[in-house]
Amino acid sequence: MRRQLLDKFRAEKDKMPPEKRTLVLTHFPRFLSMLEEEVYGANSPIWDPEFRQVGSHSSPNVSGDRSKNFIFADSSGVMSNGTSTRVFEKLSVSTSPLPSGDGFTTYNLSPGLLPVSRSSKSSSTADGQGDKRSLEEVPIPEVKRKKIEGDIPEETVAEILKTITDPKEMLGPEHAARDETARAEESRGVIEFHVVGNSLTRKVSKESLIWLVGLQNVFSHQLPRMPKEYITRLVFDPKHKTLALIKDGRVIGGICFRMFPTQGFSEIVFCAVTSNEQVKGYGTHLMNHLKDYHIRHNIIHFLTFADEFAIGYFRKQGFSKDIKLPKAAYIGFIKDYEGATLMGCELNPRIVYTEFSCVIRKQKEIIKKLIEKQQEAMQKVYPGLTCFKDGVREIPVESIPGIKETGWKPEKKNVSNSFEICLSLHSVVKQEQLDPEQLYQTLKTILTQIKSHNSSWPFQKPVEKSEAPDYYDHIKYPMEELRGTVSDVCSLGL
Ligand code: COA
Repeated sequence: MRRQLLDKFRAEKDKMPPEKRTLVLTHFPRFLSMLEEEVYGANSPIWDPEFRQVGSHSSPNVSGDRSKNFIFADSSGVMSNGTSTRVFEKLSVSTSPLPSGDGFTTYNLSPGLLPVSRSSKSSSTADGQGDKRSLEEVPIPEVKRKKIEGDIPEETVAEILKTITDPKEMLGPEHAARDETARAEESRGVIEFHVVGNSLTRKVSKESLIWLVGLQNVFSHQLPRMPKEYITRLVFDPKHKTLALIKDGRVIGGICFRMFPTQGFSEIVFCAVTSNEQVKGYGTHLMNHLKDYHIRHNIIHFLTFADEFAIGYFRKQGFSKDIKLPKAAYIGFIKDYEGATLMGCELNPRIVYTEFSCVIRKQKEIIKKLIEKQQEAMQKVYPGLTCFKDGVREIPVESIPGIKETGWKPEKKNVSNSFEICLSLHSVVKQEQLDPEQLYQTLKTILTQIKSHNSSWPFQKPVEKSEAPDYYDHIKYPMEELRGTVSDVCSLGL
């Protein structure tokens, strides 16, 4: 092939532009020699289906500090940080071959729901035998929650949580999440989810191969526009994996994907559920499992080419045409499908997607109970205020019994009249240590200006009884006193 290529280039060299000629006749033979060496090298990563490059192209999905938390396991099981300078690493998946000789290609995710803590999870093979994969599973660093003012104390939430025992009672059947039935079926062991894939280097179990054939069948039936050979090629390609949905030992659905760990994304190539099992929530639950699986493997971006019939489904699974991943990360890595729309989905590593709808339900219930609690407190009758009868003229709003309990907080004062201006100026003086004499002079000027204002005549002298005989029946604190107060305030503490 090398000879054929070079002969062809040499024959065509005169038709080539000079820069192409240099490339093809000088650099290309050298590249071919290096490639040849690599191909025949016993330890060449070229034959490693799990090959991943570290360093030159850091995962574009991970920003800031998160990249520092990447932990990879090499073939000897040694953990290393993602910032390592090694040229490449192998992602070891199995350390203890099974007696049956079964490889690592099947990971059992069920029965039962995923534990909320992802860090301690270990999986077994399809045969249910312990193939610990904890090395591959990267703990998500605990993020300390910032305390926000007004946050409900954790103890209150814990108390409420104790009272939420029956999720079915929570918000009624009309609010049941799409994946609820599938989740219940999974916990009863009716359905199972397994990640399966072919391998060139390890023996693949018979069960995995049967499931791969089943998956190829489901995809071929549900995606009639895809050439069957193409589906078969990708499903059996060692670089692709498929999350299989098994019911009664039979494949009823699956999602075939290819992970690009160095690029920080995974491409979803086929996704289907057999016709008589559709619209039962299996498609949603499959996708949720796939999301959790990827978060455990530190990939938080999905890309897929969706045809016109699939756009609706993908949109409901959180995909959008607005791709968050930089183009440089995926261009050249995934094939463009004509007539299909590229859609992407960014995952939140702090969410356990298979538990998501359940958690949202619980949160809704907590909020409902908190509102009820608040309402109970608000219905409490507090004794009326008696201080005014004793001559008190003003009290702070927050000292009224029950006001604080409603959650009311004093707003920042918006000074609107000269009296308040005086008070706020006074507090400014106190806080900022202004010169009291200077302030006194300022206030005196303001007061003089107010007094000499055209509209200030009603406040200049007390109302005569002859002018309004019942005035003092209604006005308990007439202007005279207020004027005195204003003057007093001006000299207050100065
Ligand atoms: N267009 C729009 N919405 C769709 C849809 C479609 N083609 N297929 C499913 N949905 C909706 C469902 O109505 C449901 O919405 P709801 O929650 O508001 O009721 C939601 O998507 C998920 O339904 P769910 O029951 O979880 O999915 P499913 O088990 O039916 O599986 C598919 C969904 C797409 C995998 C399945 O319909 C299928 O295999 N289709 C044929 C193959 C295909 O088109 N695959 C996608 C491209 S690879």
